[in-house]
Amino acid sequence: MMRITGQMHKLPTLRNRKSSHIKAGLLALMACLLLAGCQGDNGSGASGTEGEGTTSELSRAAMAQEGEELFNANCSACHGLEAAGTNLGPTLIHRVYHPGHHPDASIHNAVKVGVRQHHWTFGNMAPVAGLKEPDVDNIICYVRRLQRENGIFEGNDFPTAC
Ligand code: HEC
Repeated sequence: MMRITGQMHKLPTLRNRKSSHIKAGLLALMACLLLAGCQGDNGSGASGTEGEGTTSELSRAAMAQEGEELFNANCSACHGLEAAGTNLGPTLIHRVYHPGHHPDASIHNAVKVGVRQHHWTFGNMAPVAGLKEPDVDNIICYVRRLQRENGIFEGNDFPTAC
């Protein structure tokens, strides 16, 4: 049994041995809930997100599939098939585009307003017209899937559309 009397005021300090475990557990749980919440929000009305605010494996796969077609039609001319790069644009399967460094928002931004040359020497990227936000979310799903498959990052530690 934990002694609670007289200890309540000490609970917030992580040095308090027994409560620190509980505290760490709670923090982890809260972080999970927060992350799950973020993922849900990211879709901003995109179809394919489940009611509870998490994206199921099934809808991720469907989004990535849709994204592959959109990517091939709108991005692959420069970024290459499977985002492997061409002489007109960089591969996106690169540590530079890890979601911790280029989060989803920067991909949305790239499509919406274009990119001024800064990482490479291919020139600028012009904005890509005709894509709605959910379309870009699907493209992001596809790119993140390729990045995961190629070991750029693992798991779901980063809030991304997928
Ligand atoms: C006409 C060629 C071209 C097309 C089409 C194109 N891009 Fe790019 N893109 C580039 C180039 C070149 C860069 C590199 C700019 C730099 O950092 O030097 C780039 C950079 C990016 C970046 C990095 C942004 C940043 O903040 O550094 C993202 C993300 C991206 N493109 C996504 C896309 C997506 C998604 C599509 C399709 C909807 C697309 N691009 C279509 C040429 C293109």
